[in-house]
Amino acid sequence: MTFQQVYGYEPAVRYSAPGRVNLIGEHTDYNDGYVLPFAIDRRTTASIAPRTDRVIRVASAFDEAGGPVSLSLDELTPDAMDGWSSYVFGIAWSLREQGADLADKTGFDVFIESDVPVGAGLSSSAAIECGVALAFNDLWELGLDRKSLARVGQYSENHAVGAPTGIMDQSASLLGEQDAVVFLDCRTLDTAVVDLALEANGLEVLVMDTRVEHAHATGGYAARRASCEKGAKALGVEALRDVAVDDLPRAQDLLDDETFRRVRHIVTEDQRVLDTVRTLREQGPRAIGSLLVASHESMRDDFEISVPELDLAVATAMEHGAVGARMTGGGFGGAAIALVDREAREAIAAAVTTAFAAAGYREPNVFTVHAAQGARRD
Ligand code: GLA
Repeated sequence: MTFQQVYGYEPAVRYSAPGRVNLIGEHTDYNDGYVLPFAIDRRTTASIAPRTDRVIRVASAFDEAGGPVSLSLDELTPDAMDGWSSYVFGIAWSLREQGADLADKTGFDVFIESDVPVGAGLSSSAAIECGVALAFNDLWELGLDRKSLARVGQYSENHAVGAPTGIMDQSASLLGEQDAVVFLDCRTLDTAVVDLALEANGLEVLVMDTRVEHAHATGGYAARRASCEKGAKALGVEALRDVAVDDLPRAQDLLDDETFRRVRHIVTEDQRVLDTVRTLREQGPRAIGSLLVASHESMRDDFEISVPELDLAVATAMEHGAVGARMTGGGFGGAAIALVDREAREAIAAAVTTAFAAAGYREPNVFTVHAAQGARRD
């Protein structure tokens, strides 16, 4: 399927936005903390043509039902949207909710294509949201900057799609740069781009997608978020970002064991992000391995969001010489990453695949990613 096949004419513009991998800093975003993701060289493209009425039509290459779904700008409410098209309609709704005046705007025909794997924890949804947000902002001449667009994407994800996620994925997709990570303070949205220098160091990032499905709208993700809020309240702080590693003994006295372990993950993870940034700047990527592994162990043992498949991928990569490895994203499935020597890549990928077969797990999808530029008009 193409734009031309669905709508019978050629699109006027194309925008694209990438998925992301998080190098370190997991579940810290909604605790006002620090994250260190990068945009990857897997992108979603939105081909668009303006219409003269107030209708938005949406179709995609991966929607087997084929025909476009349409909604008027006068009918935009979360209840009027469902399925994957709410990632597109939700952006128009969210722009309006955030103050954009759409009263005199006209609609669009939109066609979505993507090579960001869905369900792997690589933010295929943020890639759609961010490409569409950048496009609508330009075409409607709304004048929002990229940080505001990240907020628009998060608002849509939270209220139109219904997943209680933080600001990390949209920030990475909008602010990413080639061969660099985005160091983001999720309280202030201050950002710094930090050189990854993988190429110069002969390193690559291997994604090991377990193909264990995760869903963030329900279950574990929301429960972890609630535990963090409970911990912050009991400790009398606005967010867990305000708790330091030195405060942990006092926290242990005040909190029940489970809440304490959730808090300890967030507090130590924030510190690991800061340590990773400093290490990358001072010593380069070869020196961050132990921080990645410590992050994984904290998610496995304290935050309890890993699954056996993720643990096996990480352990196998490390046994076969990876510099570091950890699960990435929300957890409960999805993917792990390993930082590996370019020459070792094939052997590590093969070892992970073999280990999965031996354990009776579904065959993983293992591939490399590179840090790439964020959302853009193509
Ligand atoms: C998901 C969410 C993000 C973030 C991560 C965990 O990817 O969308 O906001 O909370 O999980 O770090």
